[in-house]
Amino acid sequence: MAKSKASMWVEKYRPKSVNDVASQEEVVKSLLGAIEQGALPHLLFYGPPGTGKTSTILAMTRMLYHKDVWRDRVLEMNASDERGIKVIRQKVKAFAQRAVGTKTYAGYPSPPFKIIILDEADTMTKDAQGALRRTMETYSNVTRFCLVCNYVSRIIEPLASRCAKYRFSPLDKESMRTRLLSIAQAENVNYPNEVYDNILDFSQGDMRRAVNLLQSCVNFYGANGTISPDALLEVSGQIPPQIISNVWSALNSKSFAEVANTVDYVIKEGYPALALLTKIHDDVIHSSSISDHNKAVIIERLAQADKALADGADDSLQLHDVLLTLLQHNNDK
Ligand SMILES: Nc1ncnc2c1ncn2[C@@H]1O[C@H](COP(=O)(O)OP(=O)(O)OP(=O)(O)O)[C@@H](O)[C@H]1O
Ligand SMILES: [Mg+2]
Repeated sequence: MAKSKASMWVEKYRPKSVNDVASQEEVVKSLLGAIEQGALPHLLFYGPPGTGKTSTILAMTRMLYHKDVWRDRVLEMNASDERGIKVIRQKVKAFAQRAVGTKTYAGYPSPPFKIIILDEADTMTKDAQGALRRTMETYSNVTRFCLVCNYVSRIIEPLASRCAKYRFSPLDKESMRTRLLSIAQAENVNYPNEVYDNILDFSQGDMRRAVNLLQSCVNFYGANGTISPDALLEVSGQIPPQIISNVWSALNSKSFAEVANTVDYVIKEGYPALALLTKIHDDVIHSSSISDHNKAVIIERLAQADKALADGADDSLQLHDVLLTLLQHNNDK
């Protein structure tokens, strides 16, 4: 028990075979067909976080190659770690040129090519992606690429069009529940049903999040008894609804000082600006008191803040800026 507490359950329960991948039936069916025929195109997996993209390609390569030769046949790279296209190209070249034995293993199709997994491919610059086209072509007789990303729109068309595309959707609740319950059982966790319901509500189709939440609950509160939604909120790292409603009260008071105080509080408590802005975004969209014109102004400002934060801007400055825009456009028809 102590040992399983120390290890990450998301890794421990990563699907070992393509058949263990929950909820992505279409993708799995099509991939199994390709494996059977041994005719694999270049692949592009895309979709939101925690839906099984990395797990699926890893499981697939384990079905194709015996573990003794897996290292010679599969190259895993993370585009956001590798220092630019030059390093990627060198690694691909060295990997593609390495000889592989001809030994065959019963039960493993071992197709005559190697697989290069390029995870987080959407973090590559357009120039780097352009250069990758050439690399893909140069070694295409001996390698297949699998590009993995969250945002397919960030992959340049000439690369995307070289690949068979597979979209991973957020997992449906019932598949998540089944998987979560089997993990709970294996780890001797005994929570009442409503705890799993709450975890699933929080996770929004992200299986990694669900598994991590379950493990955090066990680490913080033990494996038995119930866990209140507030306690769950505490370990989830999400912003409590109370804080969101404080922000709206400050905005409705039309007092700059109050808004500034709330921002300071949010930052001091260590909540990420992006999490707060995401909640505000949802509230603005559904608000019946903000005019459509003002919604458009606010959402545009939110989008700018999102980009600025992704580029490393200061949380506090961005929050102040967005909330001041809101102060001017809230209720002001
Ligand atoms: N479809 C799934 N079936 C079963 N478990 C899953 C599935 N998707 C995710 N998981 C669980 O979540 C963890 C993370 O999954 P994975 O790394 O495959 O996500 P991803 O889609 O690559 O996410 P990201 O876009 O953030 O890289 C896995 O270790 C596994 O425990
Ligand atoms: Mg991944």
